[in-house]
Amino acid sequence: AERTYIMVKPDGVDRGLVGEVIKRFENKGFQLLALELQKPSREHLEKHYSDLSAKPFFAGLINYMTSGPVVRNLLMITYDNAIQLRKKQTPLEVAMVWQGKGVVKAGRVLLGETNPLASLPGTIRGDFAIDVGRNICHGSDSVESAEKEIALWFPNGVLSHKRVTDSLIYE
Ligand code: GTP
Ligand code: MG
Repeated sequence: AERTYIMVKPDGVDRGLVGEVIKRFENKGFQLLALELQKPSREHLEKHYSDLSAKPFFAGLINYMTSGPVVRNLLMITYDNAIQLRKKQTPLEVAMVWQGKGVVKAGRVLLGETNPLASLPGTIRGDFAIDVGRNICHGSDSVESAEKEIALWFPNGVLSHKRVTDSLIYE
């Protein structure tokens, strides 16, 4: 089945929008296969966005993804971790894999346009963001990118499991 890599960026995590993003994918009927709060290195993010390395905004993009604001949304991690992260003011991303028919394209529709001001209300970026450099979430742009990104962010693989609700969502 088709899979996509969806990520809540540091601004989205900090603003407490992780649940919003998850809710919209769940409501649509897609299946969550993997979810992890990660603290990627600069090198890791440069690899993730390697197709944009020649763009004038590349340095700003990597800075955005690696040196975001203080993490306030700490409920999902252990207390000890939270204290450590608070000291380091570490930006975090929430990495996810979603599965379902047409999930790559549909995921991009749920996210909205790259520029939040051009995104319609009802989309994540349209509802919650203003600037292209603080657009909350990432979604794979093709099936091939999705496979590459899932391997990069989840090198140990993801769970594969059968849902009882599939017969209510698919004909
Ligand atoms: P992602 O899902 O994050 O990959 O966004 P996208 O596929 O909608 O856009 P793209 O891959 O072209 O760009 C990746 C990210 O770089 C965007 O989400 C923005 O955060 C940032 N970005 C893209 N274009 C610009 C730009 O013109 N200016 C700035 N400052 N940032 C940009
Ligand atoms: Mg992209």
